[in-house]
Amino acid sequence: MAMIAHKCKDHTVTVVDINQARIDAWNSDTLPVYEPGLDEIVQGARGTNLFFSTDVDTAIREAEMIFLSVNTPTKTYGVGAGRAADLRYIEKCARKIAEVAEDDKIVVEKSTLPVRTAESVKRILESNSNGRQFQILSNPEFLAEGTAMADLEAPDRVLIGGDQTPEGKAAIQKLVDVYATWVPRERVLTTNLWSSELSKLTANAFLAQRISSINAISALCEATGANVDEVAHAIGTDSRIGPKFLKSSVGFGGSCFQKDILNLVYLCEHFGLPEVAAYWNSVIEMNDYQKHRFCRRVISSMFNTVSDKKIAVLGFAFKKDTNDTRESAAIYICKDLLEEQANIAIYDPKVEVAQIQRDLEIDADNKYVTYCESAMEATKDAHAILVLTEWDEFKALDYKKIYEQMQLPAFLFDGRNILDLEALAEIGFEASGIGKG
Ligand SMILES: NC(=O)c1ccc[n+]([C@@H]2O[C@H](COP(=O)([O-])OP(=O)(O)OC[C@H]3O[C@@H](n4cnc5c(N)ncnc54)[C@H](O)[C@@H]3O)[C@@H](O)[C@H]2O)c1
Repeated sequence: MAMIAHKCKDHTVTVVDINQARIDAWNSDTLPVYEPGLDEIVQGARGTNLFFSTDVDTAIREAEMIFLSVNTPTKTYGVGAGRAADLRYIEKCARKIAEVAEDDKIVVEKSTLPVRTAESVKRILESNSNGRQFQILSNPEFLAEGTAMADLEAPDRVLIGGDQTPEGKAAIQKLVDVYATWVPRERVLTTNLWSSELSKLTANAFLAQRISSINAISALCEATGANVDEVAHAIGTDSRIGPKFLKSSVGFGGSCFQKDILNLVYLCEHFGLPEVAAYWNSVIEMNDYQKHRFCRRVISSMFNTVSDKKIAVLGFAFKKDTNDTRESAAIYICKDLLEEQANIAIYDPKVEVAQIQRDLEIDADNKYVTYCESAMEATKDAHAILVLTEWDEFKALDYKKIYEQMQLPAFLFDGRNILDLEALAEIGFEASGIGKG
């Protein structure tokens, strides 16, 4: 929304949220989301044509177009628990619009949703329409956290789905016009509603599948003496495969991949396609396997016990350049280590201590976990270093100095394959990466 406000000066964008603390943060100098380039864009437009407010009703009344961007987490209760998307927030928004809107609205699904959600939104709105016309569009978001601003500035494509009626097509055109302010017209794709909704789930499933595929091969590399980076490079030069998303790691995280695949699996089962469901579910199973496999390797390398040993965890965010920790592999690995009674010292340049405590479900005075201001502090007297996020600063650390302040043998496990293992071995580290036999 900030990018739309930045690019379309003649449109007014009002972001509303029921969470007062979040809105306060959006109106402050410390935004609730860390994202390179976001501060400048928000500060440039805020107060001019970009506003943040908790006054949901007024914003609905005044808007011509309403983007539903609320959370759609995996359901934790009732039918479909653990797999289906929880659509209660979306439904509440639809009911709110039906209650307050005074004239016609275009309602845009920006959240990632199961196929045919637009039908439910439409029914809720139409059964309370009182003569007002509602058009529903699907406009899924393909940005990646960490590179969100660049992705929004120059997207590979923008996808807009809508009804193929004259009114539906007119609504699609209105949204096309917004994006066409800065996105080349040929990159704005228009489809029917169901194709658009399904394309988002499918895109995330394909991306996650590539990571699980290369991670599966990483286990075989370790068993055979092959090097997964070399294999990834060799296959990635095939133009049919392409080089992106072939980086082996401790496993994918983030708020979307797992949730969206679970959602896809649930949909397949719902539509009587168990084989298709099982196929996509294996992408998640492989990711879980990779996270726990990493931890098992750490423990077995360290003489089968990490109890009372100090383990430095470098990186807690699910990827670099974000403070988002949702589904971060670091959460699972730290929990496994805590079960083994290790002492863990965590350093992440952007993640707040309170967030780590929420993620690990521990109190502030938990004696097994310490929070550090630097990698140097975290690694002091440590038995092992685990690199769990690919922050650039971890590539540039003075590993010789770090080695000198660690317990020996000094183990280093590069869960992101960003370090030069040979150089680390020369310093004296027992260094290993992922998929390096
Ligand atoms: N985070 C991403 O990179 C990303 C990328 C693409 C798509 N998506 C999708 O976008 C959606 C939102 O993701 P997110 O990461 O921003 O989630 P989030 O949980 O960070 O934010 C959702 C916000 O919606 C607010 N909200 C909930 N109910 C509301 C209501 N009735 N009225 C007003 N506000 C309400 C919440 O208070 C919260 O601040 C999800 O469907 C997600 O799958 C996210």
